Amino acid sequence: MNIAVVGTGYVGLVSGACFAEMGLNVTCVDIDSEKIEKLNRGVIPIYEPGLKSIVTKNHEAKRLHFTTDLPSVINQVTVLFIAVGTPSNEEGDADLTAIYKVAESIATNMEDYLLIVTKSTVPVGTTAKIKKLIAEKLSERNLNHLKFDVASNPEFLKEGAAVNDFMSPDRVVVGVENGRAKEIMSKLYRPFLLNNFRVIFMDILSSEMTKYASNAMLATRISFMNDIANLCELIGADVSMVRRGVGTDSRIGSSFLYPGAGYGGSCFPKDIKALIRTAENVGYEMRVLKAVEKVNDNQKELLFRKLNHYFDNEISNLTVAVWGLSFKPGTNDMRDAPSINLIHKLLDNQVKVRVYDPAAMDEAKQYFGDKVEYATDIYDAANNAHAVMLVTEWKEFRLPNWNVLSKIMQKQVVIDGRNIYNAEDLESNGFTYTCIGKK
Ligand SMILES: NC(=O)c1ccc[n+]([C@@H]2O[C@H](COP(=O)([O-])OP(=O)(O)OC[C@H]3O[C@@H](n4cnc5c(N)ncnc54)[C@H](O)[C@@H]3O)[C@@H](O)[C@H]2O)c1
Repeated sequence: MNIAVVGTGYVGLVSGACFAEMGLNVTCVDIDSEKIEKLNRGVIPIYEPGLKSIVTKNHEAKRLHFTTDLPSVINQVTVLFIAVGTPSNEEGDADLTAIYKVAESIATNMEDYLLIVTKSTVPVGTTAKIKKLIAEKLSERNLNHLKFDVASNPEFLKEGAAVNDFMSPDRVVVGVENGRAKEIMSKLYRPFLLNNFRVIFMDILSSEMTKYASNAMLATRISFMNDIANLCELIGADVSMVRRGVGTDSRIGSSFLYPGAGYGGSCFPKDIKALIRTAENVGYEMRVLKAVEKVNDNQKELLFRKLNHYFDNEISNLTVAVWGLSFKPGTNDMRDAPSINLIHKLLDNQVKVRVYDPAAMDEAKQYFGDKVEYATDIYDAANNAHAVMLVTEWKEFRLPNWNVLSKIMQKQVVIDGRNIYNAEDLESNGFTYTCIGKK
């Protein structure tokens, strides 16, 4: 079967490459000609473990193609996934400009049956609007007889583990309206779930809602645990122990209970906002989610407050090393990363900032230009610094040589925004150590 994936970002490129890996003939389409040109030369524009090898292999096998020419692809495929970005607009709604541009192009160029699948995260009702838009356009073109279907297939992959998640999903959620679409989607996903087929078919509105509800639940767990951590700190409890005690309850589970510097990334912040707006549009208030956002905004300031606390609010002219810039380990994605907030605050307060991240240094340059110093590793970042602030817990940051660091830093202060270090290790090397949710 020939399929197309429109939007060749974190979701589109991973989906396209994984479908090609299963033997499908896939064309990935994007409006970013530089990205497509790179991909055609074998250069992967994003950092995602395991992605390069499957992209290269399937591109060389001529099962994976890259183009900017959407109209030429539309009539060559049976299924077209829309995987373009849906960022927040100023009001907090999902900006669907790119989604509708793709829909317009489909409606203008379609000449044969097509199943159009929204893989982007879109507000409830968007897939129905795409259907209406295409039907109206076909009618204008006197092509009312032309059959097409729409489906919703939200994506649940995690950046940093995206290929693995796509290849072995917990489940696949698909919203359909009829048997034909259901049959095609079953065929597409069967290879991924051969031994344990877990495609959950439902109606389209519920499928769109499932994606938002999942992200909202995960963000809620993070904010809840950050709130508990802040309280632990005030009353002398240790959130790491509390987390273990809570997470071993099988009714609760241990995932997404880690306190930290607040959630970020390209999904949670915008999806929480969009769901709050979706509810407002039908006269309902998402009170829990509003609190989740508020707790998160507060948490993003926490590391900065801790730095001020340790230096008695005398932080101007300090040098601070920031370890980790991407919104989480395993990705170069810095969209809405807590590091951005922190670094801007530091710069506003005349702190000299030295940064290091294993994958996101190029992205960082787009955010901070020449306002920060770019280090070659954690030791280079900490050289001559008064404090180290750990923001993203990359594996290579887990066991630093504290003895070496104690000698190259001006002052021995470590603010651990991910609770990964052992206080005794640091204190025995002369460091003042603080993390989240412990006295
Ligand atoms: N990144 C994630 O971890 C993740 C996970 C699940 C769902 N999602 C959702 O998937 C969607 C895509 O996210 P992403 O992170 O891959 O975004 P992205 O920004 O990495 O990629 C989007 C791509 O779409 C392209 N594009 C924009 N307009 C286009 C158009 N008119 N025609 C063709 N291409 C166009 C852009 O150039 C870009 O390459 C979003 O709705 C997001 O919420 C993302």
